[in-house]
Amino acid sequence: MIATIERLQLEPKRLPLITNYPSFRKWNKKALEDKVGQDPMCIYVHIPFCTQRCSFCYYKTVDLKEYRPEVDTYVEMLCEEINRATDRFQLGDRPIKAVYFGGGTPSLLTEIQTTKIVDALRRNFKHFDSKDQFSFEAEPLTISRSKMETLKSLGVTRLSMGMQSFVDDIIKLSGRGHDEKQAYRAIEIAQEVGAGQWNINIDLLSGLAGETPETWNQSVKRAIATGVESITVYKMEAFANTEVFDQGVRKDEVALPTDDQEMAFMAHAMDCFEEANYLPWSFFTYTKNGCDESQYISSIWRGMDFYGFGVSAFGSLGDHLIQNTSDLEKYPAMVGAGELPLTRGYRFTTWDQMVREVLMGVKLLSFDLKGFKERHGVKLQSLCSAVLPQLEADGFVKVSSDELTLTNKGILYGDYVGQLLSDTIKNLH
Ligand SMILES: C[S@@+](CC[C@H](N)C(=O)[O-])C[C@H]1O[C@@H](n2cnc3c(N)ncnc32)[C@H](O)[C@@H]1O
Ligand code: SF4
Repeated sequence: MIATIERLQLEPKRLPLITNYPSFRKWNKKALEDKVGQDPMCIYVHIPFCTQRCSFCYYKTVDLKEYRPEVDTYVEMLCEEINRATDRFQLGDRPIKAVYFGGGTPSLLTEIQTTKIVDALRRNFKHFDSKDQFSFEAEPLTISRSKMETLKSLGVTRLSMGMQSFVDDIIKLSGRGHDEKQAYRAIEIAQEVGAGQWNINIDLLSGLAGETPETWNQSVKRAIATGVESITVYKMEAFANTEVFDQGVRKDEVALPTDDQEMAFMAHAMDCFEEANYLPWSFFTYTKNGCDESQYISSIWRGMDFYGFGVSAFGSLGDHLIQNTSDLEKYPAMVGAGELPLTRGYRFTTWDQMVREVLMGVKLLSFDLKGFKERHGVKLQSLCSAVLPQLEADGFVKVSSDELTLTNKGILYGDYVGQLLSDTIKNLH
């Protein structure tokens, strides 16, 4: 290091004059294109309404029964926000990789409301129609043949349906309005109408109140038997704003599985999925023969830009994260007043970029070590030499010179590997 500094020592003289840094020789066309923002991006649209308030749900959603008259106004403001933000951030010419309508429950919108939003996107994003994937979240009771036909005509290619359980007693305890039969009916309609156009994902929740090994086994087997292309299993987290926290943690009125029991449920689900050839592509989603992947999720986890429209939605543009207000009263007021409903942001340092890349990238089960070295000029193996050999010895990961891969044990422990690696990088800073 000292020898390098000695070699770099400059003779004192008045020339050359330095006009900028780095020198023009380092400037290139690619950086210009990046600045003008021609890289592909994803679009997220948030619909904050639900037909019910599920006892486990931590999302900030509004029961449609209390808000129905306002949904039209929300849709109108959403379309206005799409016009304004696309213009402000010059998004209109960018290629679109994937579109995601999430919530809440987007499928409770009327066909006219959904069409209005898609039309606004189409008007503003020149390449909207050439996207790779269009995902739409749905809830069983809001599914009808006619609504599915509309989604089909609007170009939806991935329907993601919340189910949580296929056992009536467990569904009932979770505060949801449908039962097992209605769940099958909704899946059947979606499969019939969308055949050849969309893949279907269904969400299950492990760790629901009242769940036993028997009920969990039934749910997993029934989910597989539907033949959907993708099954996601989230681990239920009892957040303080949920009814399940109040009843199960604070008052001890309903039985919640322990962490160990839940871990055994998940391990059992993984065995069943493997047997039925549902392969993992993230640590909570398993797809039939590896046929389906959420392009939206994998793209944003790999760091692609995305813009979030709607109350509380957030996005990432270049080295900035930006988020809209989460206040459902303020959102239409801000848009109505001619503003963007943005409320806060965050600017990434290059160190943050590195941490995020690892934390989010590992969720996709394999991580490109060579790419990391090329982008950051340093090996992840060197940065994480304090923990990586132990993770490998304990059977959480396999490491080759090019790639880090989660083992089944690593997958079972969710974000553990990503967190440990990214915390190690953070601590070096
Ligand atoms: C926005 S909802 C999707 C669709 C629709 N609202 C429904 O519930 O049918 C997305 C998923 O979040 C998951 N989720 C909700 N509350 C959760 C919690 N407390 N812990 C983990 N996952 C949760 C559920 O599996 C749910 O299907
Ligand atoms: S799980 Fe889905 S339907 Fe239930 S409250 Fe949450 S977002 Fe709404």
